[in-house]
Amino acid sequence: MLNANWKIFAENGRDGYHVPFVHQSFLGYASPPQPYVLFGSGHALQRAAWARSAVGEETWLKTTQFPLTGLEPGGGWIANIFPDLVVMARGSVVEILSQLPLTYDETLYEVRVIGLVGDTEDARACRRLAFETWLQTQQPEDRASMENQQRGLRPQCISNDHRLRSQAPGRGARDRIDLCCRSDRAGKPLIRSRSD
Ligand SMILES: [Fe+2]
Repeated sequence: MLNANWKIFAENGRDGYHVPFVHQSFLGYASPPQPYVLFGSGHALQRAAWARSAVGEETWLKTTQFPLTGLEPGGGWIANIFPDLVVMARGSVVEILSQLPLTYDETLYEVRVIGLVGDTEDARACRRLAFETWLQTQQPEDRASMENQQRGLRPQCISNDHRLRSQAPGRGARDRIDLCCRSDRAGKPLIRSRSD
């Protein structure tokens, strides 16, 4: 469960600017800039590449020994299919992320990691390690970033904002027609609603 709006999730996959600072623990030095194409339909496609120096030599060899057809070791693609699907193919593993909006600030997303029919146990272990090494590390970093963005959208002194679809309906928001109005920090009303 992600405590953020689905649009933040969708945007995250299309935004290359957050990578150097949100993923500094790993990706900041491991993912050199790659060609990125944003289509008018909302779909996006980006080349991915990983520096061999980002992980130890042993890990590099273990995670690249069963490359998928057409992919360079450590290389691949990130395909964002608007609005709810991200496919990441990297070296020896493919990850599919899908999302389901539940409420304005709750999004259920699923992660599927796939291999090939007929994979041996060694190949499966390689793909699992590749996922854990190259892909899974991003998720807690992106989650924190997206949930912080959602919190940042919350108004500090307005209990009902039409842009956020009555995010605090419990405090009389449904009775208020105008943008309503608690009070500022000094207790002084900001905007009075018609019901006050
Ligand atoms: Fe990210």
